[in-house]
Amino acid sequence: MSFVVGWALLVLAFTAAAEDLLIKGGTVVNADRQFEADVLIRDGLILRVEPDLQAERPGTRQLDARGMLVMPGGIDPHTHLAMPFMGQVACDDFYSGHAAALAGGTTMHIDFVLPVAHDLLAGWAEWQRKAEAAVMDYGFHMAVTSWSKQVAADMQVIASRGVNSFKFFMAYKGALMVTDEQLLAGLRRCRQLGALAQVHAENGDAVAEGQARVFEAGVTGPEGHALSRPAALEGEATGRAIRLAEFAGAPLYVVHVMSRDAMEEVARARQRGVRVIGETVASAVSQEEGRLWDPDWDVAAQYVMSPPIRSREHAAALKAALAGGALQLVGTDHAVFNSTQKQVGRHDFRLIPNGVNGLEERMHVVWQELVNSGQLSPSDFVRVTSTAAAQIFNIYPRKGVIAPGSDADVILFDPLLEHSIAAATHHSAMDTNIYQGYRLKGKVVSTISRGRLVWHNGKLNITRGTGRFIPTPTFGPLFEGLDKRPEHLVDVARYGGVPVQRGSIEGKVDARDEL
Ligand code: URP
Ligand code: ZN
Ligand code: ZN
Repeated sequence: MSFVVGWALLVLAFTAAAEDLLIKGGTVVNADRQFEADVLIRDGLILRVEPDLQAERPGTRQLDARGMLVMPGGIDPHTHLAMPFMGQVACDDFYSGHAAALAGGTTMHIDFVLPVAHDLLAGWAEWQRKAEAAVMDYGFHMAVTSWSKQVAADMQVIASRGVNSFKFFMAYKGALMVTDEQLLAGLRRCRQLGALAQVHAENGDAVAEGQARVFEAGVTGPEGHALSRPAALEGEATGRAIRLAEFAGAPLYVVHVMSRDAMEEVARARQRGVRVIGETVASAVSQEEGRLWDPDWDVAAQYVMSPPIRSREHAAALKAALAGGALQLVGTDHAVFNSTQKQVGRHDFRLIPNGVNGLEERMHVVWQELVNSGQLSPSDFVRVTSTAAAQIFNIYPRKGVIAPGSDADVILFDPLLEHSIAAATHHSAMDTNIYQGYRLKGKVVSTISRGRLVWHNGKLNITRGTGRFIPTPTFGPLFEGLDKRPEHLVDVARYGGVPVQRGSIEGKVDARDEL
């Protein structure tokens, strides 16, 4: 590119960013309250939130928001874009995944970096390359799949680059899974670094046994996935991770809570004052395990994810937990493998790449399942889809609220508009959609990402490579006051911290001999 063309593009980009946006006549919904106000956006930030605002600059673009809710863009705390997994690479990358997200009202997500051959820094380099295609804001969590001095040192490097969360897999034996000993070491390191430890909680040893039993019994299809990893294994691992986090004095974040069993472990721990966060996902609150028994193998395989999608009773318990506050937020675990990729497990359910879609659907599905059913208010909706993630990952109030000075990530939501979901019209690179035919009331009609109108009346206006990494600083709110609590459950200072003097064993033996 010549210097002149490059400069012209830069000027154009600057001019585009400089156009004010004025959202008129809507109802602003934040996690704490909703109120009538206009919103003026300038240079990627929210400038004013007040009634009866007028354009302050010529060329201001005005959006009519009468009858609409004006809410913070969604933050999906759990995605896997272009992730290499089970011999495949997830088919949504940072471009198609972001297109899908923006069309569904999500303006930021946090993706999991996987180490390359257990090497954290090599994984980081890999994800930097993937993110070159980005079109919206994103953050990173880092997975830890082994333990050594090098890993402990690299965690610090990764944290200094803007990552405040490390994930440990308690399942996927022989691949990503860590032992309890490794998890414990990781929990301790997280506490030192001021980073949040995250767990995929399933008992990986028991899952491997369950899979073998089911397969040997002749069940080779997708239903074998649900049969082989019951909710008890999710509950056990969740309880174990929480107890180990208590032991190490580290806050904990349980990803994709799929069952009542796991949810109740989180709820009980929170009740006794443990700093644990429970994240559920869109598929868990809206889908049910019967889909894995679909007579069409390709349909059934779409629903294979781990932990598995459970029965309706579990979904109901998870929704109640979100309403009651036992669970704090909803992600997606968006990890998509198309029907050709899923086919690798045609004759053995254990080989079906695990993962479902949701990045584009999450906001609509949560609204439908929880607000339209009367379980959450619009403010609660904002909390579980955006604000809680911003707070937990320490980027609030930059994200997760409509307020002066915050990033202008905003959606206009028409609560009366009815629509349905279909693979033919979605924006993901997937050829299927687990929400196919799902009917909804309430639709994101406009998405504003850093002040740019990127989704409006059914059209995307996005540019590859314009995405931005959002660093998540360590020592977030979950670490507040932690220094005043015991550093470890093994409290050697109890009863004075001095070893009890009991005399010599020889003396005791002599005394016994005399009797
Ligand atoms: O099935 C799933 N969840 N796939 C993505 C990897 C993970 O466990 O989060
Ligand atoms: Zn997981
Ligand atoms: Zn995941």
